Amino acid sequence: MSRIDLLLGQMTLTEKLGQLTMTAEGAAVTGPVSAAADLSEEIRRGAVGSMLNLYGAEHVRQRQRLAAEQSRLRIPLLVGLDILHGHRTLFPMPLAEACLFDPHAWELTAREAAREAARDGVAMTFAPMLDVSRDPRWGRGVEGPGEDPLVAMRFARAKVRGFQGTDQGTEQGTDQGTDLSGADTIGAVAKHLCGYGAVTAGREYASVDISERTLLEVHLPAFAAAVQAGVVAIMPAFIDLAGVPMTANASLLRGRLRGRLGFEGTIISDYNSIGELVQHGVAADLSEAAALALQAGVDIDMMAGAYLHGLPAALQRGAVGMELIDAAVRRVLRLKERLGLFEDPYRHCRSPEEPAALAHRRRLARQVASRAIVMLTNRADTLPLSPATRRLAVLGPLADASGEMRGPWWSAAGEQDCVTVLAGLRTALPGAQLLHVRGVPIEGTDDAGLAAALEVCGGADAILLCLGEAALMSGEAASRARLDLPGEQRRFAEAVLGRARALGKRVIVVLFAGRPLVVPWLAEQADALLAAWFLGSEAGNAVADVLIGRTSPSGRTAVTWARDAGQVPIYYAQRRGGRPADANDHYSSRYIDVPVQPLFPFGHGLGYARFTLSELQVSPAAVRPGDDIEARVTVVNEGARTAQETVFLFTHDRLASVARPTLELQDWARIELRAGERGTVVLRVAAEQLRFLGADLEPVFEAGELEILVGPCADRTRLLAASVRLIGS
Ligand code: BGC
Repeated sequence: MSRIDLLLGQMTLTEKLGQLTMTAEGAAVTGPVSAAADLSEEIRRGAVGSMLNLYGAEHVRQRQRLAAEQSRLRIPLLVGLDILHGHRTLFPMPLAEACLFDPHAWELTAREAAREAARDGVAMTFAPMLDVSRDPRWGRGVEGPGEDPLVAMRFARAKVRGFQGTDQGTEQGTDQGTDLSGADTIGAVAKHLCGYGAVTAGREYASVDISERTLLEVHLPAFAAAVQAGVVAIMPAFIDLAGVPMTANASLLRGRLRGRLGFEGTIISDYNSIGELVQHGVAADLSEAAALALQAGVDIDMMAGAYLHGLPAALQRGAVGMELIDAAVRRVLRLKERLGLFEDPYRHCRSPEEPAALAHRRRLARQVASRAIVMLTNRADTLPLSPATRRLAVLGPLADASGEMRGPWWSAAGEQDCVTVLAGLRTALPGAQLLHVRGVPIEGTDDAGLAAALEVCGGADAILLCLGEAALMSGEAASRARLDLPGEQRRFAEAVLGRARALGKRVIVVLFAGRPLVVPWLAEQADALLAAWFLGSEAGNAVADVLIGRTSPSGRTAVTWARDAGQVPIYYAQRRGGRPADANDHYSSRYIDVPVQPLFPFGHGLGYARFTLSELQVSPAAVRPGDDIEARVTVVNEGARTAQETVFLFTHDRLASVARPTLELQDWARIELRAGERGTVVLRVAAEQLRFLGADLEPVFEAGELEILVGPCADRTRLLAASVRLIGS
């Protein structure tokens, strides 16, 4: 008999429900389980099977001992934590990392994060966050891969591989038999299934009401990719989809995820989201809520205590059967088994690492952070800073703000653990004098520092303005209706820009934010503008590397930047419509008061070199399903230094049974070229990739002409075009 069968045969109802219960200590008390003053007794009696927000080898060991040595059946605890972009060492926030367009780097950072967390008692992370986000009002876009489904899919695969060690997937779907008990491996939880990024008006936790097509074409593919890569768990989103809360969405969880996608892993609710089924108005009480969630396929109840306290009554009145409970318990025990917890419950509680390992990780963090920076503008080669810079004014509320560099999730990183821009510049420019004045705070009306900031401009060779959002102005529960700089920063920046103009000095702006802010005025007035998102532990060094030209910026924005908040949601993959935008046609799809074009398109990003693309060749001329399309394009570095270029391949199916977006990303590649060097970039599209959902929402491959568009960003005017004939099957 297997271990799981044996255990299941011996378990009481409380012990079974305990395995389905995840709680935390010291966290906001929501459910009855965590309301217990001391969790020790709850763990010993088997009423708690998993914990979140717990880390630290000794701390976890203590808790684990209660379960693995002192509970009746000695079933180890499963410890989970949000490790969105690093644990003790922070890498850039996911949205920033997405701008690398580099799956290998995405995997490496997850691998290193897993290494750190695994030593700290953590067995599973609530990551990657895979929500496609096209509305910068929503705060959680910073946690995910941006606006594009293909980027999200590649991000999903890379992160799952990174956290879980290897590619666990099989051609058929998940291989839930694979061992994940490697010393540096942790389980990944893909979240939040699905469509969370499309909350109404960008308002956190609001209802989502999108078409099934959009759900399937835009929001679901990343989860399908995670499943294929062998992700061990999935977390449904807080939201309801057209009235059906995800936590109770049987057709999506059981039908689509388990049925069609073949997911055999564990489904973990979001924080108290089973309890919130009552607030949604689909369950009268905790017991009804518990029954709905279990029926829908949710195995673990995070923080609601609904399973433990609500399922016994649901069982009694026949709303759920024991077989549903047993099936969920089996999946949880299987997960613990795969993570090696039965063999060694303390395998995730190890001593701290050697300094050399930490130093290696910091180097990676710095490299990735400098590559995540997107240079949005650079007039008259303002950057890199001239080596002759002797006096640099370093102004603004984010110039010396270590805690803010962490962004909205920081796992185990302390407030003082990040390198600030000021500190990074001190190291990078030892001979220069840095004139630092904060000027104004991030938020609030205090402008007492304004005069001092203007004052130092006079003596500076150049002026650096570090502006933006506080770390917690994005992330969960951080929707914004206004997308400009908060507080007095705009007034402050305009005063500095005005003074600089009068003095004939250049102003470089480094913008920290968890979203593409709506700052057309800044893009217009600054001599150079860098999007630095939130870059983590090595933020200041990475910014300095780009400013002084040690690194040529190579980040490309993974989200479209709006020029006015009224344009959102805004994204490149829109459909043309019957009256496409035309500046000369009043009755066309546009605004009468704001241009229709974004401020910066998806994929935009400058470097210190200049590239030209030419000679697009696409072969073969005609393809059927099963064939591959290959596009070759010549890239020449016409600049004066080595740099990297990213080349995107989009398609447009002009005539299909269902109107297709004017651009759809199908592949991208990067190339590094020395000054004057010429190279060839090869991009590939499997014809299978060109299947789309027909009118009946089933995949079809339609015959016809397909446009292939290749270039540096999603601005159609900058793309080289060719075409391919699709031969139907
Ligand atoms: C968030 C999840 C997170 C969970 C546990 C929730 O509030 O929505 O993304 O994993 O908390 O921290």
